Amino acid sequence: MNILVTGGAGYIGSHTVIELVLAGHNVVVIDNLVNSSKASLKRVAKIVGCEIPFYQVDIRDREGLEKVFAENKFDCCIHFAGLKAVGESVRLPWEYYDNNINGTLVLVDVMRKHGCKNIIFSSSATVYGNPAMIPITEQCPKGQCTNPYGQTKSMLEQILTDLQVADPEWNVVLLRYFNPIGAHKSGTIGENPNGIPNNLMPYITQVAVGKLKQLTVFGDDYDTPDGTGVRDYIHVVDLANGHVKALQAIEAKCGVEIYNLGTGKGYSVLDIVKAFEKANGVKIPYVIGPRRAGDIATCYSDPTKAKEKLGWVAQYDLEDMCADSWNWQKNNPNGFED
Ligand code: NAD
Ligand code: UD1
Repeated sequence: MNILVTGGAGYIGSHTVIELVLAGHNVVVIDNLVNSSKASLKRVAKIVGCEIPFYQVDIRDREGLEKVFAENKFDCCIHFAGLKAVGESVRLPWEYYDNNINGTLVLVDVMRKHGCKNIIFSSSATVYGNPAMIPITEQCPKGQCTNPYGQTKSMLEQILTDLQVADPEWNVVLLRYFNPIGAHKSGTIGENPNGIPNNLMPYITQVAVGKLKQLTVFGDDYDTPDGTGVRDYIHVVDLANGHVKALQAIEAKCGVEIYNLGTGKGYSVLDIVKAFEKANGVKIPYVIGPRRAGDIATCYSDPTKAKEKLGWVAQYDLEDMCADSWNWQKNNPNGFED
């Protein structure tokens, strides 16, 4: 298929571009590079052995998008482009609503004008709020999101669903990611957060590489086996493959379909610290701190639907995730800067 990947220079997008090309698809990337660099796509090109057509375009830029659609014919859009920092979204709600919601509205308008009515959207387990059931199936009702970032995901799910109800020619796949970590086996692409990382694994790898002194564990008094928060960590390459599999749903004219992409296993913060130390032989000093506002105790998926309907199952285990995260960080202590 001919696929437009928005946000394809970013962490999950760049890994997905590789798997799409390896599966035989033609890919065009657009990205405004607000949270990424062209270097990631150069490294992707090395891995797959061909250049990836790229446009530096903001999804809010209608004229820029028109040009991309005039020069290419797309069967489907995989839509990663968006801002994703929870804390920043609380400080800059307008920017998040404008970028994520307005951006998607412009994108889908240009798509439908050019007859491309197939979209796979990057959603998040954050839409479940404090989940009503564990493990979380797609039947679990959406919950209250505690920040503008989460609101944009929840609202965009609704917007895309409403669009499909009004115009059944649309096919919409909503992928709810759990916690992506890890990196490509080559160690040449990976997650490259700006400033001090908010998320657990990039924080751990920066402690391991000596950029940060120690990890603060956000609370050890949750109702979990060791008192620290439990999450469903998924290797980014497995997540990337989930997108390739999701194209089957598009081809089968699915209407609106929701899939959890997780492993179905929950690990605590201390499990991750121990697994990282064991996989890599590196010590991670940590202290126990207070809970982080907005955090929940436990969140992990039931990924049965993706297995049964798409034939997708995560292949990599926690040891792979820890080893690959470290391989990327230690070989690229300054991210994509050469
Ligand atoms: P990322 O920041 O690495 O990638 C997003 C890409 O989108 C970046 O390259 C950025 O430059 C680009 N972008 C942002 N706004 C844009 C705009 N207006 N126009 C064009 N490009 C724009 O983030 P990621 O971790 O790869 O996440 C990809 C998607 O998955 C995001 O929508 C994110 O919200 C969602 N998601 C991520 C996680 C996670 O933990 N990483 C979890 C759940 C959902
Ligand atoms: C975060 C986002 C969520 C997003 C998800 C995937 C918040 C509040 N939520 O979820 O919206 O969908 O990432 O990108 O940011 N932890 C520590 N110390 C740290 C960092 C994290 O103990 O320095 C703990 C957290 O309390 C949590 C676990 O590690 O229990 C995972 O945290 P994180 O990687 O930030 O992911 P989530 O909180 O699940």
